[in-house]
Amino acid sequence: MPRETGAPAGHDVIVVGGGVAGLSAAWRAAKLGLSVAVIDPHPGRGATHVSGGMLAPVSEVTYTEEPLLQLGLASLARWPAFRDELQEETGIDLDYRTDGTLQVGYHSDDMAYLDRLAEFERTLGLRVERLTGRECRAEEPMLSPSVRGGLLARDDAWVNPRKVVTALLAAVDRHGVRVIPERAAGLVAGGDSPGVRLGSGEVVRGAWVVVAAGAWSSEILPGLPVRPVKGQILRLRGPAGFLSRCVRGLVHGSPVYLVPRGDGEITLGATMEELGFDGRVTAGAVYELLRDAHELVPGVTELELAETATGFRPGTPDNLPLIGPAGPPGVLAATGHGRGGILLAPISAEAIAAFLTDGPVPDVVKSCDPGRFRS
Ligand code: GLY
Repeated sequence: MPRETGAPAGHDVIVVGGGVAGLSAAWRAAKLGLSVAVIDPHPGRGATHVSGGMLAPVSEVTYTEEPLLQLGLASLARWPAFRDELQEETGIDLDYRTDGTLQVGYHSDDMAYLDRLAEFERTLGLRVERLTGRECRAEEPMLSPSVRGGLLARDDAWVNPRKVVTALLAAVDRHGVRVIPERAAGLVAGGDSPGVRLGSGEVVRGAWVVVAAGAWSSEILPGLPVRPVKGQILRLRGPAGFLSRCVRGLVHGSPVYLVPRGDGEITLGATMEELGFDGRVTAGAVYELLRDAHELVPGVTELELAETATGFRPGTPDNLPLIGPAGPPGVLAATGHGRGGILLAPISAEAIAAFLTDGPVPDVVKSCDPGRFRS
């Protein structure tokens, strides 16, 4: 018989997944005085580890995804307080930057696209500035002379996700959260409280289970409409100040971005691939990312190639996350954050804390009801 531990009296909340979504929810819950356990064999080493960390609802807006924009804006507004609290509690500097995103174009088609995007963004009340090629290069001298113009979204920010996760792990530890370094094999519903079966066969029970297992969430709770969307990234190392803000562009029809860190590192991303859990880094992706980035910023090929990596974004059918009650009593989802896991961490954690304590759930999170796909 597998052993059962963590009866309701033991833990109020079991969080499955120690990425940014799970750890942020665990931190918030623990700060409310709840006893919390997080199950993850390698906390912080999933999608969070390879994320760019862009807090960029403005420059990532698309024509069909206004609810996602509203969610992103609401979470971006919460980021400064989230950062301050996390930095104060842990003493870890998150490398939070607020210099905005510069989205550049080369050809008349790109410029027409950027003009239409700027118009759309303005109708939504977003602040964007249209710059000429010369003005773009004045902002970012490493840009190619071929850049014809761009859009500067000054309200976008970014953060170093690896520092965020290091800080969250320190913060949850400080609040007495138990991190169980094991694989979760599945949910055990029924009985007085839900539980999670570990890879070892042991069942851990709590009054609540929060499924925050990213791209693996449907392995924990079958039926959750989450799939892996593979992303390959490169980390380059160069002089600090090589770029002063996030630079994005569309090259040969593929989007590419460069996210600079305070220490000179640059995250260059990212592919979007529907290949299931294929963890290979491919020569083609490295070639295309470098080729496209070189068109934007020719000097990138002089930088040290420090790392190549693959991650799996948790994608949903409508690109909105799944946050809230997820079927069996006592089970919540905090997953499906797609391309916006870091951006959406504060609002997602706030909502989970509200569900756990019957507090007010932010209105903007209502679009993320995990039950919305049920017919
Ligand atoms: N948010 C950037 C990405 O998913 O690649």
